[in-house]
Order: sequence, then structure tokens, then C-alpha cells
Amino acid sequence: MKRIIGNWKMHKTVQETADFLTHVLQRLSPEEVYLAVPFTAIKEAASHGIHVGSQNVSHEPEGPFTGEISARMVKEVGAEFAIIGHSERRHIFGETDDMIHRKILRAHAAGLKPLLCIGEREGEDREAVLHRQLERALKGLESSLVADMMIAYEPVWAIGTGKSASPEEAGDAHAYCRSIISSLYNAEIAAMIPLLYGGSVKSDNVQALLQQRDIQGALVGGASLDPDSFVKLVELSQSVVS
Ligand code: PGA
Repeated sequence: MKRIIGNWKMHKTVQETADFLTHVLQRLSPEEVYLAVPFTAIKEAASHGIHVGSQNVSHEPEGPFTGEISARMVKEVGAEFAIIGHSERRHIFGETDDMIHRKILRAHAAGLKPLLCIGEREGEDREAVLHRQLERALKGLESSLVADMMIAYEPVWAIGTGKSASPEEAGDAHAYCRSIISSLYNAEIAAMIPLLYGGSVKSDNVQALLQQRDIQGALVGGASLDPDSFVKLVELSQSVVS
């Protein structure tokens, strides 16, 4: 089953989260809903029985890190997965490959499923960037941990721009990511990891993207904020057979 994961970024208060879910859960069951919400809305979202993620966790377990939030803290209030290394974290807030590697370890240790994001910026060599980001994020991780992750390929130039990668281009990039994981681990592990595409996914391109063999789902920002748009994406994704 192909899956849609919403990434709300810095949108929606607790009340707005409750209103969104009341609306959406009239048409979808909680098991069909995956949302990475702001920290403050995790508890509310989890109380509706959906799959809830945080959008970040600290690379440190605890301590004097003003403004940070730990993996254990978001797990405690109901998160089951955590987005790690989103391009907005890498490029606006200066997260390094080493921090991202440590965040994966922290998330896993707290019992959160890591959703690692990777992707090239406009003009960068896609394969070189994907290879470097995957190798550095996963270095030395046990295969059982890697097999329990999700990975999203999100070309930075496609995020929030309305300019998505073509299905073929995205399919090729995903196949390339799987080949890297296979070379770092093995083909069996690589086949177990859901690979998601992100970057301007909307109702008019979601099916073509999800029809690609190596794309198991989509990470959706803008189009996940409106309840009707989100429901439509989930319904369209469910009609994709591959
Ligand atoms: P977008 O964002 O769907 O608004 O392009 C995707 C993301 O940043 O995960």
C-alpha cells in the first residue's frame, strides 16, 4: 500500500489540528492518516489514533541545549516517527550530515521510526549528493535499524515551488537510492525500506509519481494542510496499484 505522509512544517495550532482531524476522520480511518505536526500538536494528533511524527529531534539526548527537544520527549507525547534531515533543517538551520546521523541514533534509541530526508539542490550533481548524504547518515548503523527506517527523496528545487520532479526522474532517483543502500547493506535490507518522494506533490501528479516501482509513498507539505486536499491525496494514493 502506497502511503501519504503530511509534513505540516510551522503550521497549525492545537485547535487547528483538532479541527483538521475531526474533518478528515469523517472520511478516512485513523490508520490511513500519517502526519508530521508541530511539537505542540503531537499530543492532540495522537489522541485521534493516527500515525503521528515530529518534524525534528535533537542530536543530543538531553542537557543544556536551549530550544532543543529530545527524541524521548516527542515519543512520550505520542510521536511514532520523526522526520530527520529535512532540507529546511539542513539549509536554513545548518544541520550537518554528522548531526543527522546522530539524530537517527537518538530517534531509534527512543523508539521512534526515523524518516530520513535527502536530496540535491538546484544545479548540484544528484547522484553525488544522494550518495554522500546516504553514506554519512547511515554510516555504521546496524542493519536492523536501517531496515526500520523510511527515507524520502526530496529534490530541494521541488520543495514548495510547484515544480515537481517528473515521475521518471523521481523513479530513477529512487532506484539509485535503493542501489546505494543495497551496496552499503544488501538487497534484502534495501527492499524493506519504504522510499517516499517529496516536492510539490499534488492531486494532479501524485498517481503518476506513485506508479513508479521504487516509490512507496509521498511526503507532502503544502497540499497536506487543507483537509479536503489531504483526503483526496490519500484516496488517490490508494487507487494506485503496483
Ligand atoms: P511541498 O513540501 O509538498 O510543499 O513541496 C514537501 C516537503 O517539504 O516535505
